[in-house]
Amino acid sequence: MSRPLIGTSWKMNLSPSEAGAWFAQAVPALSKLDDRDLFVLPPFTAIHVARDALCRTAIAWGAQDVHADDAGAHTGDVSAAMLADLGCHFVEVGHSERRRDHREGDALIAAKIGAIHRHGMIPLLCVGERSPGSVATALAVVTRQLRGALGALDADALGRAVVAYEPVWAIGVGAMAAPLHHIEAMHAGIHRWLARHGARSTRVLYGGSVDSANAAPIANLAGVDGLFVGRAALDPKTFIRIASIDIEGGHERD
Ligand code: PGA
Repeated sequence: MSRPLIGTSWKMNLSPSEAGAWFAQAVPALSKLDDRDLFVLPPFTAIHVARDALCRTAIAWGAQDVHADDAGAHTGDVSAAMLADLGCHFVEVGHSERRRDHREGDALIAAKIGAIHRHGMIPLLCVGERSPGSVATALAVVTRQLRGALGALDADALGRAVVAYEPVWAIGVGAMAAPLHHIEAMHAGIHRWLARHGARSTRVLYGGSVDSANAAPIANLAGVDGLFVGRAALDPKTFIRIASIDIEGGHERD
């Protein structure tokens, strides 16, 4: 049984001041939700605001990206050591916007995961197919991404990772969440891949146009261990609604 995990990446939104206002509104309600794990991934510039707002709560914070090296001549980049020093628990890697905008591939993502683990944090790996199609086609893409990013990890290290299944065609303004049957089949396939590598407790979240209407039906599907929310969470009231959904206590897996 795993505790549901619900979180948000704000992407390139919310200044440090706006982040302060978001936490002031959200933290009182979120900190009452003690049967689930929650996290917030602000932009780098607002991580210290998250730390100050969340350090006396059970809500985790983290980052949306990291450099693979621990230090050095990499202008503009941020290392895992720096994120660990800010108290980050999760670090996202492999989001489709980074794969698209920065041409990030599986080898680089695997190296970033290594850095995240070296510094005692949890990588949150995003995987997902680019266009709608059959489960078989999508699973071939996603399995390739899992193998490329996680294939070198042993079962123990896989247990210290989170996967977010995010079909690219379901992300962002104008998109809609994937159909429930597609999500359920994809999560089953991802869990099968993880189990084949000895990982039975790795949580698999769904992301892509999650909102307050579809959050509960998606989160209650078999194999969905939580939600990863983008634009809907920029309004703290909406994120509180999503984080507070009824979830039928934990998902059992064989
Ligand atoms: P969205 O983003 O909820 O705005 O579609 C999801 C994501 O990219 O994780």
